[in-house]
Amino acid sequence: MYYAFDVIPYNESFKIIDVAGTAGSGIGKLRDAYGRSGAKIRAKKLVSKFGDLSRGKTVIFAHEHPRVYLPHGRAVEAEDLFRQNSGWKPVLHWRMDAADFLRRKKKSRSDGYNQNREEGRLVESAAKDLGVDVVFGSGGNFYKGALSINYQRKNFDNISESRKPIRISKVGLYVHLGNPRGTIPQIIVNNFSDIRVVNTPNIDRSMECKWYFRSFVESQGIADAFPRYIPVGMGFANYDVARDFLSSLQESDGWPLVVLKPVITWGGWGIRMFSRDDMDRSLRKFCVKSLDPNLEDLVENCVVNTGWSENVVAEGITDCFNEMSPEGIYFSPGWDVWKHLEEENDEVRRMLSARKKQIPKSKIRDMTPRVFPFFEYASAFLEEFIPPQIVKSRKTGKEHAGYIRVCVFDREVILAMWRFQINHFSGEYQSFVGKNCRTFFEGCDEETERKLQEFLNPVIDAFEKGFFERVNSINDLFHYRNQHIRKLLSLAK
Ligand SMILES: Nc1ncnc2c1ncn2[C@@H]1O[C@H](COP(=O)(O)OP(=O)(O)O)[C@@H](O)[C@H]1O
Ligand SMILES: [Mg+2]
Repeated sequence: MYYAFDVIPYNESFKIIDVAGTAGSGIGKLRDAYGRSGAKIRAKKLVSKFGDLSRGKTVIFAHEHPRVYLPHGRAVEAEDLFRQNSGWKPVLHWRMDAADFLRRKKKSRSDGYNQNREEGRLVESAAKDLGVDVVFGSGGNFYKGALSINYQRKNFDNISESRKPIRISKVGLYVHLGNPRGTIPQIIVNNFSDIRVVNTPNIDRSMECKWYFRSFVESQGIADAFPRYIPVGMGFANYDVARDFLSSLQESDGWPLVVLKPVITWGGWGIRMFSRDDMDRSLRKFCVKSLDPNLEDLVENCVVNTGWSENVVAEGITDCFNEMSPEGIYFSPGWDVWKHLEEENDEVRRMLSARKKQIPKSKIRDMTPRVFPFFEYASAFLEEFIPPQIVKSRKTGKEHAGYIRVCVFDREVILAMWRFQINHFSGEYQSFVGKNCRTFFEGCDEETERKLQEFLNPVIDAFEKGFFERVNSINDLFHYRNQHIRKLLSLAK
């Protein structure tokens, strides 16, 4: 398993403020953090693990479609959800940030197969040094016992290198970096148990929605690895609960008091920092309730007809990347999470088919009724703010505010680096997200890295234990989530 954590030192230990799966890879920043030779050592550590896990067979290192693909679809979906459920507005700030991001991204388009050259080149050179057979590519398909990968190549920079399909029996490991919706990893999981997959889609999904990871860890009795938090939005916290939570927090000089974070986005979208005064003013917003916090009603509210070509995000953003389902209808990212509900729950099926009848015939190919993953879109955490650490940088010789990005692969810390604000610390908090945020990376010292390993070991153990006890399919993940929603809603009543 591959994990990328953001942690902040706290009272002799650490607090995890964010976690990502393979989408948070971090390898692309190795040079910045460790310099040329340090980066090489780290990359070799990673690639030699590829070699071990593949047991000498071929490793496929797949850079999946642009990492913007996922949020792009999300932004469109969220807009629809927002329009139909105006009470959820307060926790959907991220939609605006997403629209802004996409507008900028559109200007610098890339085709998606070379998202992070630095990452690919480091892996390539380590593989050559170590004699591990690594093949690069992106997506592809299975046919007659062989796997054809798009842009398949051994030299990372040579995307026109032509190669024969690889026999499935020769593949030992599929490393999937990017968004967790790729189809190949799922096909491998379902059909080719001899091939190991890093990370399997369910594992990545459980880190995409910030709530899952925490919940699995907490299910094993570990809670203090994370900042304190309460869930908000969708009727999760009433006014009094939120007040109680805020009064339990210590205000420290000059730092924000709490962070509002949507449970699903990344890139800092929708992240808002509040002081106690700001928070007191906006408290009622975050406690906005759905009219009746009842799961069935929420599901019903979330079934909408979606037209994909609609320009709903912002001016200039029209082309949402969508995929075709086996039934020939378009679906959006997030669809897979709900597919089983749609198939298995009679009530939901009835709602969907009623909605489907409303779609004009001429639009039937582009429009489909969908159940939104509303929990992911419309809920957030209100989380205790953990001040960044102020550290003297080796590079600049000055003090900077920073937090640590630490990546763990196959239970071992592969890299641990500070993400520092470029401006040295002047006593004032500068946001780590948004347009004006400029940062650089610097490797942590060995002692910190050792402590991180020690701190993370039980957290990862707990996550994996909690996860595999309950989840063997996407359906299990879904059921687990719904149980949790019901619990939260009943607590908030
Ligand atoms: N509890 C917290 N305390 C202090 N800063 C935080 C906290 N949570 C998030 N942040 C800051 O906000 C940034 C974005 O939050 P994060 O949870 O990582 O969201 P995303 O997944 O969108 O990157 C973090 O990199 C960190 O700088
Ligand atoms: Mg983050």
